[in-house]
Amino acid sequence: MGILTDKSIIVTGAAGAIGHATAQILAREGARLMLVDVNREGLAARAQELRAAGADVVTLTADVSRSADVQAFVSATLARFGRIDGLFNNAGIEGHIAPTWEYDELEFDRVTRTNVNGVFLGMRHVLPVMIAQGGGAIVNTASIGSERGLAGACTYNASKHAVVGLTRTAAAEAGPKGIRVNCVMPGVIDTPLLESVLGPLFNGDIALGKQTLGRIAPLERIGHPLEIGEVVAFLLSDAASFVTGAAWSIDGGALCTIRH
Ligand code: NAI
Repeated sequence: MGILTDKSIIVTGAAGAIGHATAQILAREGARLMLVDVNREGLAARAQELRAAGADVVTLTADVSRSADVQAFVSATLARFGRIDGLFNNAGIEGHIAPTWEYDELEFDRVTRTNVNGVFLGMRHVLPVMIAQGGGAIVNTASIGSERGLAGACTYNASKHAVVGLTRTAAAEAGPKGIRVNCVMPGVIDTPLLESVLGPLFNGDIALGKQTLGRIAPLERIGHPLEIGEVVAFLLSDAASFVTGAAWSIDGGALCTIRH
């Protein structure tokens, strides 16, 4: 028996590095999964891999920033599994890198729509289902950028601060209804998204970028996506029954100190 046996859980951004790694852990712990992403091919490949490992998985190609798409994957989850026990509200994009005074306004809106509206819409459509059921758990993906400024990433940084605010507010509202809402704040994690940020910052020397960024953490390395998934699985499980409104840093200790 896993800690999520028979729980029905939605994972957004499931074609991506953290979403997929987390889906692997959730499946290992016995969850039935609805995987969501805009990337149809990536999603199909990830789902096939999970099914081959014995997981009960369905997929829906959807854009989390569109209310009708979110409603569609919520309805499809209910049609297939009959309930929604968990939501890992994880889809996110990094946006272009530029100082605030040069930042493109349309790009600001694009990132905000996915990272802020997407997280809001996931909760907007899933919470009524959980309220009707009398329980459930949600984990949103924030970032260590939710606690610090990130030069060059004003829209990403603002969006990840917003995720913490959305999390705390929903936790305050839904706690009396038996629903827990938390967020995780990954530090520097070894993913394609990270590489796309490091490329321009380190003149294409991604290995140097990873080594340099690893030094911001007392554990002196960057993290692995599976290390996010383990914490998400715990937060979605009944083992975390008294944890809500929390923003959990998973960052090798980066936020706890100033390295010198
Ligand atoms: P990734 O790029 O590998 O995965 C993100 C996934 O989200 C992709 O598969 C993409 O197609 C999907 N997606 C993007 N926009 C979407 C939309 N509108 N609707 C549906 N799906 C959409 O990135 P990664 O690293 O797995 O990131 C996952 C989350 O973790 C993001 O919210 C990111 O901001 C956050 N994060 C990542 C860190 C890192 O070091 N990689 C650090 C801190 C936070």
